[in-house]
Amino acid sequence: MEHSSILATLLLFTICLSTSSNAVIRDPCPSPKTGSDLSVIHIYDKCSPFNPPKPASSWVNTVLNMASSDPERVTYLSSLAGQKPTSVPVASGQVISTGNYVVRAKIGTPGQLMFMVMDTSNDAAWVPCTACNGCSSTAAAFAPNTSTTYGPVDCSVPDCTAVSGLACPTDGSGNCQFTRPYGGDSIFSATLSRDTLTLGNDTIPSYAFGCVNAVTGGSAPPQGLLGLGRGSMSLLSQTGSLYSGVFSYCLPSFKSYYFSGSLKLGPLGQPKSIKTTPLLKNPHRPSLYYVNLIGISVGRVNVPIAPELLAFNPSSGAGTIIDSGTVITRFVQPIYNATRDEFRKQLAGPFSTLGAFDTCFAATNDEVAPVITLHFEGLDLKLPLENSLIHSSSGSLACLAMAAAPNNVNSVLNVIANLQQQNLRILFDTVNSRIGIAREVCN
Ligand SMILES: *[C@@H]1O[C@H](CO)[C@@H](O)[C@H](O)[C@H]1NC(C)=O
Ligand SMILES: *[C@@H]1O[C@H](CO)[C@@H](O)[C@H](O)[C@H]1NC(C)=O
Ligand SMILES: *[C@@H]1O[C@H](CO)[C@@H](O)[C@H](O)[C@H]1NC(C)=O
Repeated sequence: MEHSSILATLLLFTICLSTSSNAVIRDPCPSPKTGSDLSVIHIYDKCSPFNPPKPASSWVNTVLNMASSDPERVTYLSSLAGQKPTSVPVASGQVISTGNYVVRAKIGTPGQLMFMVMDTSNDAAWVPCTACNGCSSTAAAFAPNTSTTYGPVDCSVPDCTAVSGLACPTDGSGNCQFTRPYGGDSIFSATLSRDTLTLGNDTIPSYAFGCVNAVTGGSAPPQGLLGLGRGSMSLLSQTGSLYSGVFSYCLPSFKSYYFSGSLKLGPLGQPKSIKTTPLLKNPHRPSLYYVNLIGISVGRVNVPIAPELLAFNPSSGAGTIIDSGTVITRFVQPIYNATRDEFRKQLAGPFSTLGAFDTCFAATNDEVAPVITLHFEGLDLKLPLENSLIHSSSGSLACLAMAAAPNNVNSVLNVIANLQQQNLRILFDTVNSRIGIAREVCN
C-alpha cells in the first residue's frame, strides 16, 4: 500500500516534470476539465501544489486556522465598502492573504502553468515572477524572459498612473512599478505587465497583471491572484465579449480532499433554469458582489432582524456580499446574535465554543438541528446541514458554522462565505445584474 503510493507519487512527479518545459511547477493532478470550465481546487486539497507537506492535524483545525484570517478580510472588505470611489484598478488597497481556492492558468507564450487564487472581491491579477526577492520558494514563478509575448507596461500610459498613483520618473521613461501592502506587515512591489493569459482553451491576449519582483516583511504572497470582481481591470472587464460578463463556480465540499469544483467562464454551459436574486451595485466599491438579503429563518421561525440592519446602503457600505475568499459566513453582531439565539432555543444545550464557533453541541443532536434558510430577494437558500454545521475532529461536537463580523467602527457588511456555498452553483451575471444559486454536487 505504502510502497505503491510512493510509486504513484514518483510517477506523477515524473509526468509533471516532463510536461512543464519552462519551470518545474508541481501539478499534483492532471486537469480533467477543458473548454471554459476550469477545475477549482481547494488550497489544501491534494491536487493543490500549496497543500501542507503533512496532512493537517484535523480538518476542523484546518478550517479554524483558515477562518482565523476571516476577521482581517471582513474588516478590510467593510473598510473599503464605505470609501470614496477609487480609481485604482489593479491590486487596489491592501491585498489580503486569504486564498482558499485556486485555478490553473497559463501565462505567456509558450504558456507557463500557474495556480492562481480565485477572488471574487478583488480586481487584482498578479503572479510572483522569477528573480523575485523574498517570494515564497514553494510557489511557481512566472519567467517573463522566456515568454515571447511578455511586455512591461510603460509608466506613461494612463493605466499605470491609475495603478501606481505615480507619474513617470523625471526622465520620463521606464516600466510601470507599483507597491502594495500585503497581509499584516509586508509590502510587495510589482511591474505592471501584459501577456497572454490562457484559461482552459481560452486565450486572452495582452492581459494586464502585476509581475511581483520583491516582497519585504514576513508574509510573502505564495501564489498568483486572479481577480474575479466587477471592477475596471478584473478578468471580466479585460475579457469583454469573450465571457460577456458571466461566470459561475461550484465549490467542492470542504471534506472532499480528492475532488475539485468548477469555474465556468462565459454564458455557454451555464444552468438554464436557475433561481436568481438581483445583483446590486455599489459605486463606492465596484468590485464587490452585493445581494439583497431580506431575512433569515431558523427552522420555521423568522429571526427577528431590524430591516435597517439588512438594508443595502452604498454610501455606508452596508449590506450583504457573496465572497469566495472568506471561509465562514459573518453577519454583523446583532444579526448573528439573533440567529444564533434562535438556533440555540430550538436545540437542547449545553453549548460550548470551538475557535471561531460559539455554538457547539453534542453531535448526536445534529439530525434535529434546525435548518437555516437565507432569504434573498426572489430566492430562498435553504442551507444543507453540510453548509450550516461543522464537526469537531473527534466527531463528538457539531458547531453552527457561522460567526459574528468583527465589531469595529464600520461593521455593516455581511459576508456569505465558502463553507455556506459548498456544492452550490453560484452564477454571476453582471450583464443582467443577477446572481443565480442552484444545488449541484460539484465534487
Ligand atoms: C480544448 O482543446 C483541446 C486540445 O486542443 C481539445 O481536444 C478539446 O476538444 C477542446 N475543448 C473544448 C471544450 O473546446
Ligand atoms: C530568465 O531569467 C531567469 C531569472 O533571472 C534566469 O535564471 C534565466 O537564465 C533567464 N533565462 C533566459 C532564457 O534568459
Ligand atoms: C452578541 O453576543 C455576544 C455574546 O456572545 C455579546 O458579547 C455581544 O454583546 C452581543 N452583541 C449584541 C449586539 O447583541
